[in-house]
Amino acid sequence: MNEKRDGFGSKLGAIAAAAGSAVGLGNIYRFPCLAGENGGGAFLLIYVLIVLCLGIPIMMAEFYIGRRGGKNPVGSVKVLAPKTRWSLLGYVGILAAFTILAFYSTVSGWTLEYIYKALTNYFANKDIATIEAGFSEFHNNPFRPYLWQVTFMGLTAFIIFKGIKDGVEKYTKILMPALFVILIILCVKSLTLNGASEGLKFLFKPDFSKVDGTMILAALGQAFFSLSVGMGALITYGSYICKKDNLSTTSLSVVMTDTMVAILAGVIIFPAAFSFGIQPEAGPSLAFNTLPMIFNKMAGGYFFCIIFFILLAIAALTSTISLLEVIVTFLTEEHGLKRNTATWVGTLVSLFFGIFCTLSLRQDSVFVFGNLTFFDFMDKFSANILLPLGALCIVIFTAWKMGKASFYDEITNQNTLKVAVKGFIFFIIKYVAPFVIIAIFINQIFLS
Ligand code: PHE
Repeated sequence: MNEKRDGFGSKLGAIAAAAGSAVGLGNIYRFPCLAGENGGGAFLLIYVLIVLCLGIPIMMAEFYIGRRGGKNPVGSVKVLAPKTRWSLLGYVGILAAFTILAFYSTVSGWTLEYIYKALTNYFANKDIATIEAGFSEFHNNPFRPYLWQVTFMGLTAFIIFKGIKDGVEKYTKILMPALFVILIILCVKSLTLNGASEGLKFLFKPDFSKVDGTMILAALGQAFFSLSVGMGALITYGSYICKKDNLSTTSLSVVMTDTMVAILAGVIIFPAAFSFGIQPEAGPSLAFNTLPMIFNKMAGGYFFCIIFFILLAIAALTSTISLLEVIVTFLTEEHGLKRNTATWVGTLVSLFFGIFCTLSLRQDSVFVFGNLTFFDFMDKFSANILLPLGALCIVIFTAWKMGKASFYDEITNQNTLKVAVKGFIFFIIKYVAPFVIIAIFINQIFLS
């Protein structure tokens, strides 16, 4: 029982893992879509403001709970506030992990199919209609989407089996630099296209006429999803962070990395789209249909297409491992399962729900309620309800239940570190974040 708990071996390892969780399909495929729909530069500006002002404090609150409690989301809260109902906060996180993993593994599986398609030069000389038809044919195929989904979860489980230091840390430290190299190569390619400046103008020049409540709230929701806050992934990783690491600089590095990747994804996608006369559009179509078509019109398109889908797969993998780790740490610590058994259980249960998400995208699917597929339901339920609810509980718990002294003690490593803006950070956690989150909530439940 008193075996030493696994943990990150270095600050860099902790940053790589947490940034790996944050950087995901949300950055490379959801962010450009939202920016496209919401007027580019103005959305970017508001998004960055939100991420800096709210994202860093909320992330610090999660790391605080995790490192101080030293356990999974449920266990950490039980340690910090014994015999209270606050541990429900942790259960919201576990539910969110299963829910996100279900639909996220569906899209993650697509990235493998598309690497395969890119490798076999499937996109060559195909027009957009044919590529789109291929996409829906894929959804209707009786076994391919599940095969890739199961393979992807297998890869995730393979890393999780190995533990924190020899699994999560080791692999994210290899995968994250690889992701950056691919991002930079694709950026350079995109920026050297004719007419790239139009795309950059769209991304960076704010058009304030597009700013309204719905847009601000869309930016908020995206910020939570993209930073992986609100569901305990960062509580779990926080519990593995070394006691002497600085939680504020770790949070700052993770937030900066995540935001930079989102911006770089925009720098790849918009110049490419504009230079081929395509308007920024919404939905999965942009990454899975439009981009391959554009790449194939470029010199070296075969190569760029392959590395783009490898980029998506890597981004997704470092996020799915953080989601599965939440479940595995919970099952081992709260229910006494062995790590291997917990990994099997976590993987199989998420695949069970995941397969229904995938099935719901078939044309003849019965898993469609009204016009909401089970896939959309899991997406909306987690991003619009569970994450804001989780984040709200986390900030209220930190500021109102635990209080200033405990928070300061943890983030200053028992007064051995100076954190200049700690008063400001605490103020945001206590007053600003709860107010803003309640506003998102009301908007998403009643207005959308
Ligand atoms: N942040 C991830 C992304 O942007 C998604 C995610 C959310 C991962 C919550 C873990 C926890 O794709």
